[in-house]
Amino acid sequence: RITGVSLRRVLDSRGNATVEADVLTESGGFGRGAAPSGASTGEYEAIELPAGESIAAAREHAVPRLEGLYAGDQRAVDGALRAADGTDDFSAIGANSAVAISMAAAKAAADVLGAPLYQHLGGAFRGDNFPIPLGNVVGGGEHAKEATHIQEFLAAPVGAPSVSEAVFANAAVHAAVADVLDERGVPAAKGDEGAWAPPISDADAFEVVEEAVDRVEDDVGFEIRFGLDVAAAELYDADEGAYVYGEETKSTDEQVEYIAGLVDEYDLAYVEDPLDENDYEAFAELTDRVGDRTLICGDDLFVTNVGRLREGIDVGAANSILIKPNQIGTLSDAFDAVELAARNGYETVISHRSGETEDTTIAHLAVATDAGFIKTGTVGGERTAKLNELVRIADDAV
Ligand code: PGA
Ligand code: ZN
Repeated sequence: RITGVSLRRVLDSRGNATVEADVLTESGGFGRGAAPSGASTGEYEAIELPAGESIAAAREHAVPRLEGLYAGDQRAVDGALRAADGTDDFSAIGANSAVAISMAAAKAAADVLGAPLYQHLGGAFRGDNFPIPLGNVVGGGEHAKEATHIQEFLAAPVGAPSVSEAVFANAAVHAAVADVLDERGVPAAKGDEGAWAPPISDADAFEVVEEAVDRVEDDVGFEIRFGLDVAAAELYDADEGAYVYGEETKSTDEQVEYIAGLVDEYDLAYVEDPLDENDYEAFAELTDRVGDRTLICGDDLFVTNVGRLREGIDVGAANSILIKPNQIGTLSDAFDAVELAARNGYETVISHRSGETEDTTIAHLAVATDAGFIKTGTVGGERTAKLNELVRIADDAV
């Protein structure tokens, strides 16, 4: 049973304050979780409060309700968080404290059981597949100004024989991108997720990433494709009814046409948020056109919310969903979204945020839920924390 919950402000990878939670149990179990934070957040996400505010509210309203609950009863823990908050979007205690506590309780329960977290969350009969890591190698948008309009170009080592080979392949693509940029005389800093953020056009970025992927593919001898997170809600100007790429704009029809063309030209394995988060219809049109050969994934569209996912399923808006526990506030809610997706043939992609910590919960979550993919960057300590944890899980070493 939970005997104590402590909350503190810690740094995230952008140097901002985030919430870390510790959960202690009567039998000596201990779990620690830290909330990540988005920069290109969806309009319909649960609310992140300033860390100090969120902690004060959670201490007052949530902690007293949690004491005495069985940490292993995740539904009870998450239900208590919801009841303490009392809103639909965690705007009273903050989704940052909620998700940190939810993850910490799961880890405390796993600790009591003496089992790895993925085992506690997934159970004995989970699948034994490992997720393919989608690795951000070139990026711009809200994660790096003066770089590409498309937020993320993601290496997708779909033919990798093991998690470890996939993780190293993505790192090799990241390094190859640096080589190709260097050969072209393009200087590049890194964006918030460690991807290269070169001051080049999106068209040039496609060439650079394709070249880098080809080189590594030749080297490793298995299939590597790539994909995108367009994060199109950030490009969409509702007043103009158009997607704004610097000086250029595209109507919704042109955007659908553009993305469908890119899928075919570059054999894209994955396209996240190709359209605005309010445009289920255009999503459905694109999925109808290219959904047989690529994953069309809803991030800002679905925000890990079963209500929004159900709406999307009804109209055929996509064929996959991004799962970010902090978008919805608890692990139980994230599991519900995964389950609804799976029942409807949607692929699941477990994801980090652009602002991250050393927390490795999402690696365990991806294995526990038998997710097809995990999106958690390529390099940088807060990204490799998850990737290395995946390698350890695959090696039975956690
Ligand atoms: P965010 O970006 O964490 O800044 O929202 C990640 C994404 O859009 O997938
Ligand atoms: Zn996204």
